[in-house]
Amino acid sequence: MKIVICNSYDEMSMLGAKVIAGQILTKSNSVIGLATGSTPLGLYKNLIKMNKDGLLDFTDVTTFNLDEYYPIDPKDKNSYRRFMDENLFNHINIKKENAHVLNGAAQDYEKECEEYDNNIRAHGGIDVMLLGIGRNGHIGFNEPNESLVSATHRQILTENTRDANSRFFSGIDEVPKAALTMGMGTIIKESKKIILLASGKDKHEAVKGLVSGNITSNDPASYLNLHKDVTLFLDKEAFNG
Ligand code: F6R
Repeated sequence: MKIVICNSYDEMSMLGAKVIAGQILTKSNSVIGLATGSTPLGLYKNLIKMNKDGLLDFTDVTTFNLDEYYPIDPKDKNSYRRFMDENLFNHINIKKENAHVLNGAAQDYEKECEEYDNNIRAHGGIDVMLLGIGRNGHIGFNEPNESLVSATHRQILTENTRDANSRFFSGIDEVPKAALTMGMGTIIKESKKIILLASGKDKHEAVKGLVSGNITSNDPASYLNLHKDVTLFLDKEAFNG
């Protein structure tokens, strides 16, 4: 695992964006894995700027997002599909049909998850997977547990997670009870390269768990130690605490 310590959130966002841009410049039909949350917003702004400046072309790029609430209407203002449209896809020249987000309105969630994994495999896997990390070490919606599900699956959300995410909704009752998420197995097996961004003091404990090298289902991020090409981009606060 490589660790890059960045002077600021902006530097972290630029270095992360350069990895993705470099991948797309090397292979125009790259497959990129994407995350939601506050952490990648700066990186997305950089990708948008590179695209607007004519330096980066998304015409042949395919993306697969990590997770989505379930059930949720993709048009809901809190859906991760909306988040991605508003913060990236609407501002770059990606073809909407190539920008995949798990369908929160799918009737049959098992079929949706199985087809998502099949689709990733049919594209030859993910060239660069972008991740954030939760304060408790969660990745996507893979929460600390006695055991983890390897494939893309439905995850019932803990009250803690629903409570933490309720700030975006009108109240906790509005927060969906579950989510669909790539499993740690999908992330590790299907990604050729993984970059994880973490910023701020409150991510320090999670980063510490990850770099300790101990692999446990109580710390889903620790599974990234099983992958041979992971780079962490950390600001000083996330690294030092
Ligand atoms: C979202 C996701 C989550 C976030 C994590 C950190 O797609 O995968 O696991 O990466 O909750 O969120 P932020 O970046 O808001 O601190």
